[in-house]
Amino acid sequence: MRHLMSPLDMSVSELERLFNLANDIEKNMQDYSEVCKGKKLATCFYEPSTRTRLSFEAAMLNLGGSVIGFSEASSSSAAKGESVSDTIRVISCYADICAMRHPKEGAPMVAASRSLIPVINAGDGGHQHPTQTLTDLLTIRSLNGTLNNFTIGLCGDLKFGRTVHSLIRALLRYTGIKFIFISPEELKVPDYITQELDDRNIEYKEVIKLDDVMPDLDILYMTRVQKERFFNEEDYIRLKDFYILTKEKMELAKENMLVLHPLPRVNEISVEVDDDKRAAYFRQAQYGVYVRMALIMTLLGLAPDVLDKEA
Ligand code: CP
Repeated sequence: MRHLMSPLDMSVSELERLFNLANDIEKNMQDYSEVCKGKKLATCFYEPSTRTRLSFEAAMLNLGGSVIGFSEASSSSAAKGESVSDTIRVISCYADICAMRHPKEGAPMVAASRSLIPVINAGDGGHQHPTQTLTDLLTIRSLNGTLNNFTIGLCGDLKFGRTVHSLIRALLRYTGIKFIFISPEELKVPDYITQELDDRNIEYKEVIKLDDVMPDLDILYMTRVQKERFFNEEDYIRLKDFYILTKEKMELAKENMLVLHPLPRVNEISVEVDDDKRAAYFRQAQYGVYVRMALIMTLLGLAPDVLDKEA
């Protein structure tokens, strides 16, 4: 039995298989409509979500399976003091696979250690968000054509943004990637990440102004300043609109630069940018369904070999 706690839990070749499967799902959705017939996904969300929970649920329904779960801690027995360990032992009696989001770092890992079914980390505090990273990698691979040799700017809340932390670490396994970290001083990428980049001699720079680096980027990964992770409201208000990607700023960028965002956005991308062909964040959300379908099948041992299918 396998769980997914971090994107690094899968090797690069396993990821290749997963992405090939996701791309096949994109082209031939109907072929997968009964693969998980009779299987149940439990979505245990102790923290709010739109994309992750609903794309997991859509993924399982697309596969012919069904879904149970809760969307907030207050509607589960966590509100009565039940531990994550006990909850997952019980969920193991009801479902075949579980996607769990929790505000506490490491909670899905605790669940996995007690679980009788595969557990997928659907985001734990400011730590990791592996299925968002799988979504991001699939989007880059599908729209950029490769996961090697590009310059990526990560902009916004690089301190608390779990999607950023997961993505950087996942991209370290590919070659020729240059990182540009764009953030205010208070929201810089954590030292443990820059230390890892230094140790591996990976090229990166840290800047405050987005405009200065726009022309250099192949991919711009925007992020939201995360109100829920701030200790005081004043700091949040001061930093929340630090970056706003506008049509004018997009004029500084390469013609084929991709703009990604894990969403939800607040103000950091102006809605006028949505019509720009380089804005890929809604397509990214769609890729999230394909990759979660591929992941569910893989963890349940039901994934067909797409190369066999082509042969
Ligand atoms: N990208 C993402 O994790 O969105 P949700 O919080 O809506 O799931």
